[in-house]
Amino acid sequence: MQHFLDIESLSSTQVIHLLQRAQYFKKERNFPVFNQCRLANLFYENSTRTRVSFELAATHLSIPVINLDLASSSESKGEVILDTVKNLVAMGINLLVIRHHQNSLQHSLATQLGPIAHIINAGDGQHAHPSQALLDVMTIIEKKPNLRDLKIAIIGNIRHSRVANSLQRLFALLGVGQLKLVAPQLWLPEKVFFGETTESLQTGISDADVVICLRIQNERLTNSDQIDRQAYREGYALTKETLSFAKSDALVMHPGPINRGMEIDSDIADGPQSCILQQVHNGVFMRMAIIESLLQ
Ligand code: CP
Repeated sequence: MQHFLDIESLSSTQVIHLLQRAQYFKKERNFPVFNQCRLANLFYENSTRTRVSFELAATHLSIPVINLDLASSSESKGEVILDTVKNLVAMGINLLVIRHHQNSLQHSLATQLGPIAHIINAGDGQHAHPSQALLDVMTIIEKKPNLRDLKIAIIGNIRHSRVANSLQRLFALLGVGQLKLVAPQLWLPEKVFFGETTESLQTGISDADVVICLRIQNERLTNSDQIDRQAYREGYALTKETLSFAKSDALVMHPGPINRGMEIDSDIADGPQSCILQQVHNGVFMRMAIIESLLQ
């Protein structure tokens, strides 16, 4: 694999290999050494989990990491990102983890760079967040391995969510039994890759094995995308009452950052069914597997 851009570019064999390697790293703590490589984190949008997770993953693989301070980078002097990336490659960086608000920017950089470095998509606009989807599936499989038997519900601002797009693609590839995409009309996806949409939280979540809650992507909403927050909370928040529609052992997941008291209540986010911190923990091992697959 030359670049890691989206789920659509992966085969089921590649996905299964990544899941197996991530699980191996987690269990065995036996890590290969890639100390000739260098990784740079270029986050043009905020991040806590993904940036730190890629940094830790690289560190476990003995890869030195450069975190670019983009506020003081030469982009502010008019440099285009392709030139920034080419200059980093010229200095010996061969792995570039990039998050950007523009859809498919990483695809375009990968096409223009070719084989001189590896581009890793850490989130592009509303399009894709493939490493998040993979770590989510790793977390689901640990508790409920028979994906074909599962009903999964994704709840919230699906239209503006790159995580929801990547999850739909991955669930389709792996043959998940049933996927419900639950949102108010205005936040249902414009294009559905897999699953069925519903505006009814009760219908969507009823008997679900896994409930994935999304935050409201405030930074991507235009004036015409706005929904009254109190009405949204009353109709779609994950609370003790709404979670009771799902199976009693349903997994509660959230890619983070969570907005307590808006899309999810604290007693659910911190409760016994929550896998939110397990997702974050698994993310380090999944990102190790992704980096390794690019270097082999
Ligand atoms: N899930 C996720 O992408 O979190 P960050 O924005 O903190 O990286």
